[in-house]
Amino acid sequence: MSVRWRIEGPARPLRGRLRVPGDKSVAHRALVLAALADGESRIEGLPDGLDVRSTAAVLAALGVRVDGPDGVGAARVRGVGFGGLRAPSGSLQCGNSGTTMRLLTGLLAAQPFDCRLDGDASLRRRPMRRIVEPLRERGARVGGRLVGDELYAPLEIEPSGPDRRLGGLQWALPVASAQVKGALLLSGLYATGPTVVREPTRSRDHTERMLRALGVPVFADGSSVRLDPVQGRGGWNGFDWPVPGDVSSAAFLLAAALVVPGSHVVVEGVGVHPTRTGLLDVLREMGAPAAVASKGRTPYEEPIGDIEIRHAALRAGRVDGERLVRMIDEVPAFAVVASFAHGISVVRDAAELRVKESDRIEALCAVLGAFGVRCAAGVDVLHVEGPAALRAARVSSAGDHRIAMAAAVLALAAEGESFVEDVACVRTSWPGFVDALRSLGAAIHEEVQT
Ligand code: S3P
Repeated sequence: MSVRWRIEGPARPLRGRLRVPGDKSVAHRALVLAALADGESRIEGLPDGLDVRSTAAVLAALGVRVDGPDGVGAARVRGVGFGGLRAPSGSLQCGNSGTTMRLLTGLLAAQPFDCRLDGDASLRRRPMRRIVEPLRERGARVGGRLVGDELYAPLEIEPSGPDRRLGGLQWALPVASAQVKGALLLSGLYATGPTVVREPTRSRDHTERMLRALGVPVFADGSSVRLDPVQGRGGWNGFDWPVPGDVSSAAFLLAAALVVPGSHVVVEGVGVHPTRTGLLDVLREMGAPAAVASKGRTPYEEPIGDIEIRHAALRAGRVDGERLVRMIDEVPAFAVVASFAHGISVVRDAAELRVKESDRIEALCAVLGAFGVRCAAGVDVLHVEGPAALRAARVSSAGDHRIAMAAAVLALAAEGESFVEDVACVRTSWPGFVDALRSLGAAIHEEVQT
């Protein structure tokens, strides 16, 4: 069975106020930290996508009772405390979720039992040496499937040394990565010495903010972070936390409003921490009227805002260095907007895009090209020339949710009927994407083929 979208373009102006699912990055971390709490936690606003369900299911396999997420995204997690995780009875299935696999490998490397983490075909192609190496450096026993110089899932974890305690760690990441940083901080909760992680530029810092809110000694200094060991000091109590809307999902609605003339959209209750809002910065430089109205902060200090955007004529934009890190998941949405901006937009320093859920540089070039957009790819570079006169197209998602959503937005601005094939992947982050676009007035239809 495969699912495709049929989209009629050009769309009428998109208008409305809406919410997007909860932030995936925040949700994974809230679930993991709730599992380690003493007592019950309630997390509200979890996204209903499969990635977060993978984290919940892995925690359940480790003996943590997780009820939900229910219809409104609320879950109750009965925490087992620092020492309460139990050996699973089979492989831990992480599905398509790199964050699940990487964060949990960090946590599980510090546990006194064996386990194995596996994932779908896409996750099995994603590089894991970046977490295995530093975990081994601090005494963990983690192995993977060696292909050439790289390590891939399935990952096998055995308890570390005779006293089963990991050591302190000082680690410099060659590429900024919140997944790796998060994995090392989680393993550091169980270590005998401090964990110091240095990044070339600071990646999203949700793990740090949450740990700090729970009383863990975590200190940031520029793009370095230090966590002091907590064992022996006790853990934390259950908590009641909301999850803000996912700016990475909101990005596609912002892009849609920017490419469909006459549009005016407000996305409510979105997490707008600066480590995640590189897209808003570049869109503003391109001339987009994007405004953020502050709606306060979560108890773990994540700023929340309503993002308002209107269609506008744009000039080309540039993304590289630290800005790229602050919008690493938003490049597909950016590339769509760039197709309508005057001039050549450039994304640089983007080699990481080749090892996401798909090779996003290749996948974007294929999709943009099919719609008639001129673009060029290099090892870590993407050029997009605009403004393009889009023709209707038939494209594939490459099994990647963000490529599927980018293609749908392009189709809204193309003349005629377009098809995006293989879109079941959108369930990993946003099963309600089609409904959201429809609520704004788009003509998008889901077709199931057997
Ligand atoms: C994430 C970090 C990013 C991002 C991913 C989610 C996280 O990956 O692309 O979608 O929640 O930590 P990297 O940390 O590998 O850059």
